[in-house]
Amino acid sequence: MLLHSALLALGATLAAAVQPLEVQGQYFVNPKTGNRFQIVGVAYQPGGSAGYNKETGRDPLSDPDVCLRDAALLQILGVNTIRVYNVNPNVNHDKCASIFNAAGMYMVVDVNSPLVGDSLTSWNPWESYYAAYLNRTFAVVEAFKNYPNTLAFFSGNEVLNNEDTGATVPPYMRAVTRDIKNYVKKHVSRPIPVGYSAADVREILFDTYNYFQCTLEGDDDNMSRADIFALNSYSWCGESSFTESSYDKLVSGFSGAAVPIFFSEFGCNEVKPRIFQEVGTIYGSEMTGIFSGGVVYEYTQEPNDFGLVDMHDDGSADLMPDFLSLKEQYAKLNFTEIQGQKAASSTNTPPVCSASLIKTEGFNKNFTLPVLPPGAQEIIDGGVQPKPVGKIVTIDSWTVKHTVKNPDGSEITGLAVKPLADDETNEPGSNTASVAPASTTGTSGRTSTSTSPAASTSSNAAVPAGAGVLPPMALGALAVVAGIAF
Ligand SMILES: *[C@@H]1O[C@H](CO)[C@@H](O)[C@H](O)[C@H]1NC(C)=O
Ligand SMILES: *[C@@H]1O[C@H](CO)[C@@H](O)[C@H](O)[C@H]1NC(C)=O
Ligand SMILES: *[C@@H]1O[C@H](CO)[C@@H](O)[C@H](O)[C@H]1NC(C)=O
Ligand SMILES: *[C@@H]1O[C@H](CO)[C@@H](O)[C@H](O)[C@H]1NC(C)=O
Repeated sequence: MLLHSALLALGATLAAAVQPLEVQGQYFVNPKTGNRFQIVGVAYQPGGSAGYNKETGRDPLSDPDVCLRDAALLQILGVNTIRVYNVNPNVNHDKCASIFNAAGMYMVVDVNSPLVGDSLTSWNPWESYYAAYLNRTFAVVEAFKNYPNTLAFFSGNEVLNNEDTGATVPPYMRAVTRDIKNYVKKHVSRPIPVGYSAADVREILFDTYNYFQCTLEGDDDNMSRADIFALNSYSWCGESSFTESSYDKLVSGFSGAAVPIFFSEFGCNEVKPRIFQEVGTIYGSEMTGIFSGGVVYEYTQEPNDFGLVDMHDDGSADLMPDFLSLKEQYAKLNFTEIQGQKAASSTNTPPVCSASLIKTEGFNKNFTLPVLPPGAQEIIDGGVQPKPVGKIVTIDSWTVKHTVKNPDGSEITGLAVKPLADDETNEPGSNTASVAPASTTGTSGRTSTSTSPAASTSSNAAVPAGAGVLPPMALGALAVVAGIAF
């Protein structure tokens, strides 16, 4: 109380905070209201995979002025969550995490990076599962555990992406999930959920989901079970429907899920400009019983051409037509209804792990997980040394310093983050700084000149619904491993 008034006297207070969410069965729940939470998210990785640089210490949450600019824009867009793929546990994220927190946005953080030694590899998981790798994932947990808006950790992203990797990776991926959950249990005051982000490769999608969500005999406290399961899905392109996009197959495939299910990426760009018609379905009655929303891929324009915002080296940025189309779709939703649903009082029971759960012939059916690599138990017991420590900090000014322009070239004036009240999360209308209406720019047919080889290989539109494709982030990761900047 004393401290609080002293800060008030100085004219600076810690901004209010979002309510940490809990997983209860198949739902994300705000424990204060008992309401389910639907993720309305955007993938946030400015610079693509190259936006994370071990040497310079740069990562997407390391430049407060950039975060302020982007939090203001994302607030106007209407989102409540960002997904960040590659973070450096040893740089300071306090200002960026505090800005997004005050803007009413949660963070889903991937604990890996595509660099060698920073993730489990698809082709030889046994060679990449060692103590220094685990230490890195635990360091990310340490770096983010104190922020109330840390929503979840992804222990892996698209590490399984075809039948071959389905044969080898599952026990290792489940083991990494186990290890991170054990670390969280021992070193974090709340059970921040840990789970997996899958490629929407239908041949192995439901086997993957079952392998990760099932309960294992002898697994005390279900430590190796995924707490959440998400998928990167590009099966809805342009004008489509619940059935034509095969979203109906996802809903039936995940019915009875015992963990929250959501899209960790969506937003096919085979038809341009994107109209994001799927938004109405994702947050509509056909989906919300099973799904907890999704994350649009992606915030910044990169060579694969999925951007909502084009950012420049000097910190200035231009909204792209897709930003306005997506904003228009979010604006049509009734958030009182979407975020006001009560979680059902009884939750689903996960299946017991057994070979009969797995339908694909070559998919791994071995539920005996690898034991911890040498040296890892000591790190779980004693904690990461030295430990990165994050905390919510005071932000002096909410005014955006960089210049941001509409797609028509006009400058957006008065751009600032609007700090929300305690326990509030962002939704359309929280920040009403005016951007150009979509009708004047949204369908003007921007010509795209920057389709990368990576993007042109992910031609989901022509592929029958449910066929396997490698979504963009997987290709990005492979490109970086091969030494090519994505
Ligand atoms: C563990 O992670 C911390 C924080 O990144 C780092 O300083 C330390 O060197 C790492 N230790 C090992 C054994 O890899
Ligand atoms: C493991 O999970 C199942 C299903 O949610 C639950 O019934 C069981 O009590 C859990 N076991 C432990 C030891 O927590
Ligand atoms: C939004 O949903 C709420 C709760 O179901 C309802 O009371 C309200 O009338 C709806 N608003 C609109 C504009 O439809
Ligand atoms: C199952 O995996 C464990 C741990 O990697 C291994 O020791 C065991 O040999 C495997 N069992 C079979 C039948 O492959």
